[in-house]
Amino acid sequence: MNEYLIAKAAQIIRNGGLVAFPTETVYGLGANALNPIAVAKIFELKERPSFDPLIVHIASVDDLNTLTKNADRNVIRLAEKFWPGPLTIVLPKSKLVPDIVTSGLDTVGIRMPDNEIALKLIRAANCPIAAPSANKFGNLSPVSAEHVKKQLPNVDYILDGGNTSVGIESTIVSIERNVCTLLRPGVITIADIENALPNTFVFNAEKPHKLIAPGLLKSHYSPVKPLYIIDKQAIYLPESSGIIIHGKKDQIFNAQKYIYTSQSFNHLEIAANLFSALHAMEDDENIKQIFIEPVPEVGLGLAIMDRIKKAAYKYQ
Ligand code: TXA
Ligand code: MG
Repeated sequence: MNEYLIAKAAQIIRNGGLVAFPTETVYGLGANALNPIAVAKIFELKERPSFDPLIVHIASVDDLNTLTKNADRNVIRLAEKFWPGPLTIVLPKSKLVPDIVTSGLDTVGIRMPDNEIALKLIRAANCPIAAPSANKFGNLSPVSAEHVKKQLPNVDYILDGGNTSVGIESTIVSIERNVCTLLRPGVITIADIENALPNTFVFNAEKPHKLIAPGLLKSHYSPVKPLYIIDKQAIYLPESSGIIIHGKKDQIFNAQKYIYTSQSFNHLEIAANLFSALHAMEDDENIKQIFIEPVPEVGLGLAIMDRIKKAAYKYQ
């Protein structure tokens, strides 16, 4: 990417504007995290409810000390092991972080994205960047610059870094001494965190009665067309159906359009291609409803099924 484009984007961030930029997970809609007016524009453009806090993106681990409190040994160990990478750590916030970023919570989610354009942008802007996924609230997350343009045509600027590599949003954990809570599953799994922190208890917070992270809303990341999870080997689909399958197999469905997220049921590949597949079905005007094959909910399959179930929830 041309350094001039990054410098231009950084200038927009410094001036209080909004820039969509690639990360390794999905595209983010960024603003200067220390400028409450700029951050307010994110909520406005995304039509995001103000109770849903934003993740702050940093390019240097040192920023943990200025933005958070209680970054203890366990936190540093997670940061050293997984950053830059798709892990967001929720910690008590410092006074520097405006309340609008955290929706009034006294904690803030921080991550260092594993994407050169994102890291250069944060360094050039010379401030932490608050960024949710660059989609309208509740819709599919964008994994390309085109997906951003489709949903947010009025954003000040888009840095086009091609398709993202991971494809689903970061794992989110909160950590307090030796207790770590998984708030949103992602490609970094509970087992990965247990391996990094051998003396720590790691819990899965997925409890429907308790809204800890709005990412845990049952319905989220939905396509604008009905989406159904298929639970049979072969079924007869209604006309104008598209089907998303995760391993090459004989076409046992009568769908009009097939998309394979992976040739071999490889979970990393499925995660990377999941949102692109949903966007492609959403964009095809011949497709009226989408069907998708489930995956077993183990390891990374937990994060993949989390996104699939949330996308399908409102159509059940
Ligand atoms: O991979 C990602 O995390 C992408 C890229 C752009 O970094 N970002 C992303 O942001 O997915 P967003 O806003 O779409 O999802 C962030 C989730 C929200 O569900 C929010 O509720 C949760 O993180 N979150 C943020 N701060 C939190 C906090 N202090 N406590 C609990 N949950 C928090
Ligand atoms: Mg999002």
